[in-house]
Amino acid sequence: MTHQIHIDQTRLISELQTLATFTDAEPVSNGTAVTRIVFSADDLRARAWLKELATAEGFEVRDDAVGNIFIRWPGTQPELPAVATGSHTDAIPHAGMYDGTVGVLGGLEAMRALKRSGLHPRRSIELVMFTSEEPTRFGIGCLGSRLISGTLDPIRADAMQDKDEATLAAVRTDAGFSGSLASVQLPSNHYHAWIELHIEQGPLLEREGIPVGIVTSIAAPAGYRFTITGFGGHAGALLMPDRKDALCAAAELILSVEKHALATGTIDTVATIGTCDVHPGAVNSVPSRVILQLDIRDTDPARRESVMQAVRRDYEDLRQRRKVTITEELVNADAPAQSSPHIVKLLEETCVAKKIPYKKMVSRAYHDSLFMARIAPIGMIFIPCRNGVSHKPDEYASPSDTTLGVQVLASALAKLASE
Ligand code: GLV
Ligand code: MN
Ligand code: MN
Ligand code: MN
Repeated sequence: MTHQIHIDQTRLISELQTLATFTDAEPVSNGTAVTRIVFSADDLRARAWLKELATAEGFEVRDDAVGNIFIRWPGTQPELPAVATGSHTDAIPHAGMYDGTVGVLGGLEAMRALKRSGLHPRRSIELVMFTSEEPTRFGIGCLGSRLISGTLDPIRADAMQDKDEATLAAVRTDAGFSGSLASVQLPSNHYHAWIELHIEQGPLLEREGIPVGIVTSIAAPAGYRFTITGFGGHAGALLMPDRKDALCAAAELILSVEKHALATGTIDTVATIGTCDVHPGAVNSVPSRVILQLDIRDTDPARRESVMQAVRRDYEDLRQRRKVTITEELVNADAPAQSSPHIVKLLEETCVAKKIPYKKMVSRAYHDSLFMARIAPIGMIFIPCRNGVSHKPDEYASPSDTTLGVQVLASALAKLASE
């Protein structure tokens, strides 16, 4: 029996708009600014609201020790590994309203639509909302999915600190999530399949007029923290020859990163120093210490490492010349992930059957799917976003593209749940 799957676009868009009201950002004129840092008041309100939506639908809801939320629709054979979908609802400072949220609320609507269609899935279907896909608070992204996949040591995770030196252990306990982080890990046969719906966060689908992207692989991210310590003091009285200005050294390091990322000659290498904490941070004080966070990604982790080696050679030279100390701390260095050929094929067949043009593509952004790939066969569905813009208030995905993405997701979930 084939089931008519009708996506309730009006409800979905209205829910995306409601979720965007849980924000710590000042309104802007050019879009919807969303700041929703993990375990902030807005994040906790958003979580409570999501759980209400799920409960109202009769789905089972649980969360784990790090606050990952699992929304389950039991199948007729609930003992079988479930099929799962999901994404995140946290948002970096001054982000938009679609990154992650489309996969969470779209996943919920896909489940509701399947239920309305009269489907009784054989396997359970589960929606996961991951804690802290964004690295804003603790400096590392995909916290929830790293712990689920056993990629991050639970003791190291609990000891991580935010900028106020509050540990994850303390912050999650305050937020109501207790218990050992070791209990978050799921075995590799826990899920039969995993699919994440997400905005592309790049321009290709829109540029080519294609409504659906099927992700074949996810580029490999790494993160480093540099601490540069020099000698500062009074901006008027400390003479130029006597300074060891940590910020000037940092400026050279930032440019070194840019130079070597460009030198690979491929668009697949990207490197960003996105934060710069200057101590003591006063206009009339020579900087004595600077902390930089580097985000570097490549489809080829060996090439990513070769850029790091070149940067290290430069900062050795910088140490000598500027008489500063530079320490490098590895935050994460992850491998790329490949989608499951079976899920890619199933998504392609779904698009063909529905006459939806699609394109196979690489995800340059990382996603929780990067880590879910370590415990389950994965796939990702991309939808276009205007001008390829993401992580900014003018991020936008059209209602019709969003609905189409959810339609493909729902069909794929139904097929996978029947396997
Ligand atoms: C996560 O949002 C990323 O930076 O790819
Ligand atoms: Mn993001
Ligand atoms: Mn995202
Ligand atoms: Mn992301």
